[in-house]
Amino acid sequence: MQIILGIPGGIAAYKSADLARLLTNQGHRVRCILTEAGARFITPLTLSSLTGEPCYGANPDQGEWRANPSIEHIELARWADIMAVVPATADLIGKAANGLASDLLSTVLLATRAPVLWAPAMNTGMWSHPAVQANLSRLRSFGHAVVDPDDGLLACGEEGSGKLAQVDAIAEAILMHGAAKLRSLNGKRVLITAGPTREDLDPVRTLTNRSTGAMGIELARAFRDAGAQVQLVLGGDLPAPWGVETARVRSAQEMLAACQARWSGADGLVGAAAVADQRPETFAPEKVKKGEGPENLVLVRTPDILATLSAARRPGQWILGFAAESENHLAHAAAKLQKKQLDGVLVNDVQGGRAFGDQTNTLTPVTAQGPQAPIGPLSKDALARAVVQWWNFQIEGRGTVQ
Ligand SMILES: Cc1cc2nc3c(=O)[nH]c(=O)nc-3n(C[C@H](O)[C@H](O)[C@H](O)COP(=O)(O)O)c2cc1C
Repeated sequence: MQIILGIPGGIAAYKSADLARLLTNQGHRVRCILTEAGARFITPLTLSSLTGEPCYGANPDQGEWRANPSIEHIELARWADIMAVVPATADLIGKAANGLASDLLSTVLLATRAPVLWAPAMNTGMWSHPAVQANLSRLRSFGHAVVDPDDGLLACGEEGSGKLAQVDAIAEAILMHGAAKLRSLNGKRVLITAGPTREDLDPVRTLTNRSTGAMGIELARAFRDAGAQVQLVLGGDLPAPWGVETARVRSAQEMLAACQARWSGADGLVGAAAVADQRPETFAPEKVKKGEGPENLVLVRTPDILATLSAARRPGQWILGFAAESENHLAHAAAKLQKKQLDGVLVNDVQGGRAFGDQTNTLTPVTAQGPQAPIGPLSKDALARAVVQWWNFQIEGRGTVQ
């Protein structure tokens, strides 16, 4: 993605260097534009060194804007897939809300047709001032996105709202708003399950598995970035991804209930959770004392979430399942596809503990047409994006999937 990072004169400007580096390391092209005040807080040399791209100054006689001042602002406006202003000052927010174009950054903001995102940071009094809030509402009415500041101790010594949001949350917001939307997923509602379930024996002991939820969370991000409205039903302890409505659950029964409450409103389901197949027959409300527990655990089956939702689906809803197999992967996946009436199964080879918690992974899709070319090995975020593209292609190719 091609990102223009506008950096006005806020004390948090130094954090935009980290943001530029993070986005560059993720393979995006980042060009920075400093305002005159911004250049007092951070230097063009820092930014161009981190991004490997030119850094632009405020005026035609500064920095790269010198080269061809008559059209540079239009070229930059066209070049951008997204523009992000970090940290957004009260001053620049006010200018942009009123269509002023007094320097390069405000001019490019006015000229661009790319999505624009603001991450404000300022003193609490400034942030809560009705003028700033009215200007932000105006920007929102133009379709701009705003990543609200956090609460905390501000550089001015005051405590309150106005602290720049976390750099990685801003990076996610930029990617989400700037990603080219996949046509057949744009606006679609996708329900995703992720993570392990936990089946408690008593208040301290539990039966669970080695899933972390990382793959499902990356899938939630990738579907979100492809334009889908994602609802995530999440087991385990990993943090929920930004911009995804997340319901946290513990047991298989809770996961099923959370899915059932959301399923009729969804266009598709991705069942990436590692759901426990069995749970203890009884739950002891008080901790079972050492030596007093039974020698043998009696287990009963948990509900089959995919099969239950598959049986309740309406025409047009699609379901992708996951299978973690340690042997005979493709045959097991084909049987699961058939038995639960799924549209696709993505098979993990988990022999020797592979896949759980690893940074890279390979998935082999199995559909009614049989096994397909493996996707990977890739890092889990790249793998998730590749899965979304593969699935988008399947939906586009077949019209609706049933
Ligand atoms: C030390 C210092 C820190 C500042 N920090 C902020 C800030 O965090 N947020 C803000 O909106 N303005 C801040 N300002 C005020 C802006 O720098 C000032 O409004 C400037 O005109 C902004 O210009 P620009 O929006 O063109 O970059 C700060 C000023 C100084 C001197």
